[in-house]
Amino acid sequence: MRGKRKARDDGGAAGRRPLISGNWKMNHNHFEAIQTIQKLAYALNRDDYRHVEVSVHPPFTDLRSVQTVLQADDVPIALGAQDCHFEDKGAFTGEVSAAMLAKLDVSYVIVGHSERRALSGETDEVVNAKAQAVLRHNMVPIVCVGETIEQRRAGQARDVVATQLSGSLDGFDAAVVAGLVVAYEPVWAIGTGETATPADAQDMCAHIRSRVTELWGSAAAAGLRIQYGGSVKPSNAPDLMEQPDIDGALVGGASLDATDFARIVNHRLYAA
Ligand code: 13P
Repeated sequence: MRGKRKARDDGGAAGRRPLISGNWKMNHNHFEAIQTIQKLAYALNRDDYRHVEVSVHPPFTDLRSVQTVLQADDVPIALGAQDCHFEDKGAFTGEVSAAMLAKLDVSYVIVGHSERRALSGETDEVVNAKAQAVLRHNMVPIVCVGETIEQRRAGQARDVVATQLSGSLDGFDAAVVAGLVVAYEPVWAIGTGETATPADAQDMCAHIRSRVTELWGSAAAAGLRIQYGGSVKPSNAPDLMEQPDIDGALVGGASLDATDFARIVNHRLYAA
């Protein structure tokens, strides 16, 4: 199995370095988080980070603990958060600002995850404001887009994703867009065990890139990294990751297990 297929070197044809991100969602208290990050750091060796960038997105209560482990052992895994508020401070009970995350050395912040769009009613306008807050504090937003099963069945998937993309990034400069991460996560594939086929995932990611070309130009489109998310596992990661417009993965369930997540990070080694 290991290494038979010609591995994509240093980020694929366009030179984009893939980003493999683990979204822990509301899992792992800070004790479990420390164990998981230590196991993950142990499972990956320095060479593994040459071809991919890795980020983990623990719950807010774990961030400080995970940051301490990463710094103490000088582990080249980027710290990420799952959300933030768009204001820097104020009377927003229960919220956490991008400014606070930046102080914890967070590098990436997920915004507009479909669970937040669905459960907290986040609109593209809110997602846009959150992405701006993340950028204001010199972090990178991972902007999530993706259609529901009803929208896909109705043949609306491409339009829905294009609208989420343009709304969430409305008003952004081309140079900013070039440095962003967009995660295409079809809602029907999240936590269901059902994955988009590599061809379908590639098709939508290519669609996203061509919309970015139309709206912000080819340099922005060439720089933008597009992750696929939705039941990514060690078994399906190699085929998904070798698609030309897929520049990494946003992994939920499988990122909770350090061994599985390390195998996804090392997907190149497991290509058929
Ligand atoms: P699963 O990998 O559990 O399907 O979750 C995907 C996701 O929502 C990552 O943000």
